[in-house]
Amino acid sequence: MKFQSLTGMHDILPDDQVYFQRVNKVVENVAKYYGFLKIETPILEQAEVFSKSVGTDTDIVEKEMYTFRTKGGDLVSLRPEGTAAVMRSYIEHGMHNLPQPVKFWYTGPFFRYERPQAGRFRQFHQFGFEAIGERNPAIDGQTIQMSYDVLKELGFKNISIEVNSIGDSECRPYFKKILTSYFRSRRTSLCADCQRRLKENPLRILDCKEEKCQRVKAGAPQIIDHLCENCHAHFKQVLEFLDELELPYTLNPYLVRGLDYYTKTVFEIVENSEDGKSQGSLAGGGRYDNLAKMLGGRDTPACGSAGGIERIVSIMKAREMKVGKDSKEDAQIFLAQLGQLAKRKSLKLFEEFRDSKIPVAESFSKDSLKTQLRTASKMGIRWVLIFGQKEALEGFVTLRDMDTGTQKEIQLDKVVEEMKAKIKAK
Ligand code: HAM
Repeated sequence: MKFQSLTGMHDILPDDQVYFQRVNKVVENVAKYYGFLKIETPILEQAEVFSKSVGTDTDIVEKEMYTFRTKGGDLVSLRPEGTAAVMRSYIEHGMHNLPQPVKFWYTGPFFRYERPQAGRFRQFHQFGFEAIGERNPAIDGQTIQMSYDVLKELGFKNISIEVNSIGDSECRPYFKKILTSYFRSRRTSLCADCQRRLKENPLRILDCKEEKCQRVKAGAPQIIDHLCENCHAHFKQVLEFLDELELPYTLNPYLVRGLDYYTKTVFEIVENSEDGKSQGSLAGGGRYDNLAKMLGGRDTPACGSAGGIERIVSIMKAREMKVGKDSKEDAQIFLAQLGQLAKRKSLKLFEEFRDSKIPVAESFSKDSLKTQLRTASKMGIRWVLIFGQKEALEGFVTLRDMDTGTQKEIQLDKVVEEMKAKIKAK
């Protein structure tokens, strides 16, 4: 019997780790710069954390959540997204008592039982930024900018931001009525799913990717023309911030996003790929002023964004974007080890180099000296420390200068010191 990973779930093999690490590092740097603090929430939550916030009639909750009953009888779900869980944590720990806003960032795995296709997985990774406790539209601008910054910093060139406002509980019900009457008169031209959505949530029809629905959608009324005064003023200010920040955005009046907790600003960042192979949005988010109340907390405005790391990595690989050198590549010393005794003893030597913060490359698995010297040379490393049976027994290492081909012996207890001096002198 041959086992395979589950459909839509992938191993992240060593070759890909550099990309994931690079994304995580850039996210962390951007988050730190803007004063966002790291948070980790459990991968399992009570199912209601998501059904109450993302919405029971959304694709995510209706079709895509991994939900099951535990032995103790609790109904739990693998988290399909991060915002609801972060808000649950904010409420649970009484964080409204802290100076507001409380700003979080996170990365980690998320789970959606989607039909696997390009850029759509059942286990995927997101990074996210959430600013909770702030009503000011500046924070909408900032969370958009932060996701944009991450992509820019990673080397993405052809990206743009789509923004819209979907109003709030004051103006949205009225708009839904207008939209319902528009779609009702064109009911037969909609796909089966959208005919159902017409009853439950007509806004969701605007999100449908079916060709026939797209055609009907093209003439639909736009919420932007029906925003209440408050939402209108808020959106205007968000756009002013984006202008100020010189971010390339376009208004997409049909962007609604498939989660119920949004109010006012929504946005997505997409790559305008030259080869036309778009795999969907790279990041998305918006304001969610009602989420705290949906989860039983007090009225707390908030805004955030999240990016899909697999989608980002896949473009980075396709475009051969730089990931920067990892610390081993920066190493100027290579430790070649021959035989069991030397291998065992070299562990201690490694620790000493690590204590002195000197990166050392090695290849534990390769046995022949020739192969190891070839590896060192490929890595462009000048100094190779050769540690064989004789050296291990007599307490010294042989230093080979790859540039000149000369060799000399160094006492084991002097190696780190001497190498430090050589690196400094270079
Ligand atoms: P979302 O748009 O559902 O928003 O997901 C954010 C990003 O995760 C997407 O733009 C996409 O890059 C990635 N993503 C989503 N589903 C998949 C999948 N099946 N496979 C691969 N990548 C995927 C949220 O999750 C919100 N929590 C964002 C947010 C934060 N809103 C406010 N704060």
